[in-house]
Amino acid sequence: MDDVLTGLLRPKSVAIVGASTTPGKIGHTVVKNLIESGYQGGIYPINPSADEILGLKVYKSVLDIPEPVDAAAITVPAKFVLDVAKECGEKGVKGLIVITSGFSEVGETEMEQELVAIAHQYGMRVLGPNVVGTLSNSDNLNASFAPFLPLDGSASLVSQSGALLIAIDAITYTRRIGFDKLVSIGNMSDVNFADMVGWLDEDENTKCISFYIEGLKEGRRFIDESLKVSKPIVVLKAGVSEHGAAAAASHTGSLAGAQKVYGAAFKQAGVIEATDLSDLFDCTLALSLEPPMKGENLLIITNGGGVGVLATDSAEKYGVPLNFAPESVQAELKKHMPSFGSAKNPVDLTGMAGNDWYHDSTKFAFAHDWVDGLVVLYCETAMTNPMEIAKSIHKAITDTGITHKPVTVSFVGGERSDEAMQWLVENGIPAYNAPDLAVRAMGALREYARLEAMKAEPIQNDHKVDRDTAREIIAKVRKDGRTGMTEIESKKIFNAYGLPTVRTELATNEEEAVSMAEEIGFPVVLKIVSPDILHKSDAGGVKVNIKDEAGVREAYKTILENAKNYKADADIHGLVIQEMAPWATETIIGSVNDPTFGATVMFGLGGIFVEVLKDVTFRVAPISEKEAAAMLDEIRGAPILDGTRGESPRDKKALASVLAKYAFMITDLADEVAESDANPVLVYEEGQGVKVVDARIILKKK
Ligand code: COA
Repeated sequence: MDDVLTGLLRPKSVAIVGASTTPGKIGHTVVKNLIESGYQGGIYPINPSADEILGLKVYKSVLDIPEPVDAAAITVPAKFVLDVAKECGEKGVKGLIVITSGFSEVGETEMEQELVAIAHQYGMRVLGPNVVGTLSNSDNLNASFAPFLPLDGSASLVSQSGALLIAIDAITYTRRIGFDKLVSIGNMSDVNFADMVGWLDEDENTKCISFYIEGLKEGRRFIDESLKVSKPIVVLKAGVSEHGAAAAASHTGSLAGAQKVYGAAFKQAGVIEATDLSDLFDCTLALSLEPPMKGENLLIITNGGGVGVLATDSAEKYGVPLNFAPESVQAELKKHMPSFGSAKNPVDLTGMAGNDWYHDSTKFAFAHDWVDGLVVLYCETAMTNPMEIAKSIHKAITDTGITHKPVTVSFVGGERSDEAMQWLVENGIPAYNAPDLAVRAMGALREYARLEAMKAEPIQNDHKVDRDTAREIIAKVRKDGRTGMTEIESKKIFNAYGLPTVRTELATNEEEAVSMAEEIGFPVVLKIVSPDILHKSDAGGVKVNIKDEAGVREAYKTILENAKNYKADADIHGLVIQEMAPWATETIIGSVNDPTFGATVMFGLGGIFVEVLKDVTFRVAPISEKEAAAMLDEIRGAPILDGTRGESPRDKKALASVLAKYAFMITDLADEVAESDANPVLVYEEGQGVKVVDARIILKKK
């Protein structure tokens, strides 16, 4: 475990630099909170003109403190922070909790960088600046100006928003969801989410890691660190504008909004994404109390048909669709319901269900091997007491002694149901006030299991590539002062990375065009090659299905004429003569260089699917072939690749392999490539492979 971070987040002693004698001031509140939270470590207020605050001796400087100091909470105005940081460094403080605002968030970026430089010079880490502070139940530590320690529990939450952290602190009591630690991470000048993932993974008191994220720093490191973590991570990502989209030069660039790339990155990192604050709490509760749902069989037990139907719909929605239980399971469940009950799935015990039926059916179902996850629903009835039902469910679960599969519960009713659910949560069973939420929580537990399985997939990074050729072509383009590469140049790079492109040759005069067409074999395609004409079809620069020599000659002349009309001073390299590949299912593969995550790969079906429906999916590169296969399956048009309307299935295996190789290429060339497209990529029948028809690479501006 990182000792310096531990000193910052679980300090054995805390100095408050800027401790104030005036109640209500932040520097006073932090001292008060440390005392009131029952913190057992040393508390050292620092103020040059005070002697005592809240009964504690005040020091003029951290350097005057006779004992070692782990963390310093800084509450002096921004202009004094750098001097204070130096003193802390000299004192040997491990970490600075910089509560003070007025740094990069208001444009004072240099001052913030200087703060980090000073800290690192002394081996210190910085939390913030612009933070509320840090809280830890297991240390009775409230080193913040949030009012109190959160309700105790086994999740820990890190928030980029300080105000939200304070709100969450209070909500833990109303929602009865406990946290061990709440950490305000502020401007993330130094300690960021990638650091927190690793540290919280090793924190013995944290079972589930929850993040509120506005924007990540070191995106790729966040993914890599998250992949090493053995605990569930759930994030709520605040919306941001779709950066960069308008300025994008490639097709992919215009589709890759920040939200989509973040969503992809979270999936890859094995992180569950919550939809809103409520959902963050709901998922956190389930993930901190229950194990992942490792198989696909979810069983729902209910006493009401209506909530059963609602839960069935939700099960579909949250990726845990219901299957009927085997006959033997149904037969046993039938014993715990009236003749008009249903033992299918959902299991409807009917409104007559009392404590025993709930207990016996829950116990049997939870213990049965077929059941991978159990959701128990209850509608408050006049004949039953919600607390007794809750206790019956709890007893049934504990009676089985099973801890490797999950259960979630929903009670629908009034105050008595609320009390019963609170009791359930306090006794380790996640309970929600709507069936949809109990199923959603189970969906998160299932997703966690799926993501864990995906994490183990190795990414192949030893593809056979001709790196020298690729770099030579790039160097030549750079020498010309260009960033846009021609189709021929782009395809040569694709070929250097083992990507199959249709045969394409450059002709600089009509005679060459004819002999190349004859060599390639008719029919052929002719296309203009000019760095000034990126959208070739719009310029009348493409002629397809040319069947003979005369056709080549005519097309050659027409295309050159069209190009000149389109842009009189266009730099024309010649025309490509290209093999006319038999048509097949059109797909698109592309890439962007995301400001947060770097090289990012996109996949979608081509033509109208990408143009109109924007049916595409993303991953941060590189990716494993399994991850690539998952991309093929997650677009809405996925069934088309599996073969619809009598068509035979497409070669998904070859496509996934090409996608993974392509992702490797853009990672390998990430220092040079800004965006790229392979569009269309034709996908043939199973076993027949894939061909890239057109390729485009745009280099970074340097
Ligand atoms: N060392 C120690 N104490 C010092 C000091 C120094 N070098 N310089 C000043 N102080 C003392 C002051 O004397 C004062 O104590 P007093 O009230 O007993 O006189 C105390 O530090 C605070 O200084 P003051 O000038 O009164 O500042 P303030 O309390 O009005 O504001 C901040 C200080 C840090 C709270 C303020 O600048 C700030 O950043 N507020 C926003 C914080 C925030 O919201 N952060 C989280 C965002 S989510």
